[in-house]
Amino acid sequence: MTTTALITGANKGIGFEIARQLAERGVTAVVGARDDERGRAAAERLGQPYVLLDVTDEESVQAAAKWIEREYGRLDVLVNNAGVAGGWPPEPNPSATPASTLREVYETNVFGVVTVTNAMLPLLRRSEAGRIVNVSSELGSISLALDPETPFWENNLLAYNSSKSALNMVTASYAKELRDTPIKVNACTPGYCATDLNGHTGYRTAEQGAVIAVRLATLGADGPTGAFLSEDGPLTW
Ligand SMILES: NC(=O)c1ccc[n+]([C@@H]2O[C@H](COP(=O)([O-])OP(=O)(O)OC[C@H]3O[C@@H](n4cnc5c(N)ncnc54)[C@H](OP(=O)(O)O)[C@@H]3O)[C@@H](O)[C@H]2O)c1
Repeated sequence: MTTTALITGANKGIGFEIARQLAERGVTAVVGARDDERGRAAAERLGQPYVLLDVTDEESVQAAAKWIEREYGRLDVLVNNAGVAGGWPPEPNPSATPASTLREVYETNVFGVVTVTNAMLPLLRRSEAGRIVNVSSELGSISLALDPETPFWENNLLAYNSSKSALNMVTASYAKELRDTPIKVNACTPGYCATDLNGHTGYRTAEQGAVIAVRLATLGADGPTGAFLSEDGPLTW
């Protein structure tokens, strides 16, 4: 039976790579994108299906869920990858960051994930092995942020970092609710990858960044749930 995955924000960057690597493994990787032209172009390059999906737009998310139900009857994997930084370069000081920037970033990185997850859950419950992968960041780790010995100490980005901390708790919360089901819910960090999000300043490639998300998307029944992982293993929350 074919495995069907939905990857949000899959028209470029790490999301595109997650879709590409899942498709390479024989998964039907539905490219979710908020822009019709960019989404269709990416899906065409991958030879995979496409669905219009703006994670901040409830109607668009509901329409995408209906389309997936019609096409596939269920969903096996949801990768909540779509994310924004809140501008680049980001404001380095929390005291100079307006609350409106937090609202804007949370709309996509936190509320968007909840909207998409709630809409897709009925379809994931129909899968024998549902997997939810939330693409978080080391910058969301409060323990790392408070450790002056790590590079994360310097990156005191109020909106982005706190949105990923919130996403980590969102991950833990869903994992707890779904612990008695076959659905596993995990967060991952791709590492610092050169993409549009950070003006291509990262030292890893999007291809490398996608590896851990793909691993969590294809976890076996003995895999973890409620975990926060990089390619090298568990991360401190
Ligand atoms: N790059 C890194 O170093 C790094 C490190 C840690 C975590 N991450 C996380 O990795 C994920 C992917 O980021 P990336 O580096 O690949 O960035 P990217 O190249 O900027 O890609 C972001 C993707 O998200 C999409 N998106 C943004 N808002 C959306 C919305 N409202 N609805 C649907 N799609 C939306 C973008 O679509 P458009 O093309 O339409 O804008 C794009 O496809 C993000 O969650 C990011 O926080 C990245």
